[in-house]
Amino acid sequence: MGVHLWGHACDVDGLQKVAQRHDLALLFDAAHAFGNSYQGQMIGNFGDAEVFSFHATKFCNTFEGGAIVTNNDALAEKARLMRSFGFADYDTVLDVGTNGKMSEVAAAMGVTSLESMNMFMAVNYRNYAHYQRMLKDLPGVRLVEYDEAEQHNYQYVVLEIEEAVTKVSRDHLQAILWNENVRARRYFYPGCHRHEPYRTLLPDCAELLPETERLVSEVLCLPTGTAIGPDEIDGICEIIHLAVAHGEDVTERLRTSAPDDVTANRA
Ligand SMILES: Cc1ncc(COP(=O)(O)O)c(C=O)c1O
Repeated sequence: MGVHLWGHACDVDGLQKVAQRHDLALLFDAAHAFGNSYQGQMIGNFGDAEVFSFHATKFCNTFEGGAIVTNNDALAEKARLMRSFGFADYDTVLDVGTNGKMSEVAAAMGVTSLESMNMFMAVNYRNYAHYQRMLKDLPGVRLVEYDEAEQHNYQYVVLEIEEAVTKVSRDHLQAILWNENVRARRYFYPGCHRHEPYRTLLPDCAELLPETERLVSEVLCLPTGTAIGPDEIDGICEIIHLAVAHGEDVTERLRTSAPDDVTANRA
């Protein structure tokens, strides 16, 4: 399963080759990638199936929900059956199923998202480009950039904080931002391997996943969307610049207070 993380398409062709070589099914987690493309073709067309999320934090919002998309008719039929307990009609059950039905209200919310899609994309792009201008050349703070040759929903403004350079950790930076009422988010933190049941089943798992460990300690997602604009972004970037300019001093002052206390009630 490939994950189009932050909406950036993963190496679809490479994974397809691996899947073919080993006769494996290939699925894509496209939760972040609604409205995005890979080599000019819209995400949703690849592998055996791709799965979008329509959770309230996602680009297309039905409060909760999602969609499985596939070009495989047999798989589509199975998924349709599964959506409603395996019922083929009023009293015939053909397969195992679950309750994956979408309510009318959720669907109506999704339609409003679709109607506003171009506007959301434009606002997200404006915000991303503004962050990019404000944070460029700030050592140790890397904004994850979008490939402008592809289509994107620009839903995620993601920083990777290299503490060895900034002298202020991602967690301390987050605590400073929260203190100023800026709800920047750690993401996928702590990694799945640090939750049950994995941490008990595989206690040494963290040592096997150095890249995951690095990423979960460096990533910080900044606010974006229609509720903010250039003025708010200027303010957020000013805080980040100040924190990095005084990295050692800030770290020394925060060392005695636990950043987890500040960020414990994160959404
Ligand atoms: C990469 C990724 N995959 C899957 C999901 C799960 O989506 P849902 O909450 O709609 O099941 C999320 C949710 O945040 C996600 O970020």
